[in-house]
Amino acid sequence: MAKKLAIIYGTGFGNTGIMAKAIEEGARGAGIDVIIKKVEEASPADVEKADAIAIGSPTYKGAGMPTVIKFVEGLSKTLLKGKVGAAFGSYGWSGEAAGVISRMLKSYGMDVIEPDLRIKRIPEGEGVEVCRELGKLRK
Ligand SMILES: Cc1cc2nc3c(=O)[nH]c(=O)nc-3n(C[C@H](O)[C@H](O)[C@H](O)COP(=O)(O)O)c2cc1C
Repeated sequence: MAKKLAIIYGTGFGNTGIMAKAIEEGARGAGIDVIIKKVEEASPADVEKADAIAIGSPTYKGAGMPTVIKFVEGLSKTLLKGKVGAAFGSYGWSGEAAGVISRMLKSYGMDVIEPDLRIKRIPEGEGVEVCRELGKLRK
């Protein structure tokens, strides 16, 4: 089982940030070490040191946040094969971002948790609970 989880995310209005914090809670509750960073403060080294990574982005204009997509693209030379990956994000109506990230992580040979996690607008109640569950990294 994964011992260290890196959660890296972008958020415009805080909704994907709420998801990230709920994933963190779930992971800590399951005894997993967590580093959680906004994408602007994250580096490939954060990912390299982890056994599992969860990457979050809201959907804007049918795509992921450019900062997050750029970060994930920048991981192409990091050794990720075999690590556990997860993609998540809040959305309004179409929600492409998490799917895009999930595919990118798979292309790096990661063991990606499916389906990716998308929550409409503000995560509340059951939505927060589903995020906590994801943090436990059970497939
Ligand atoms: C300018 C703009 C464009 C958006 N485009 C999309 C979109 O194409 N598809 C979608 O599902 N949601 C879209 N949304 C909705 C956001 O994904 C949604 O508000 C989400 O909860 C924002 O998450 P955040 O608080 O983490 O930034 C858009 C929102 C804004 C403000």
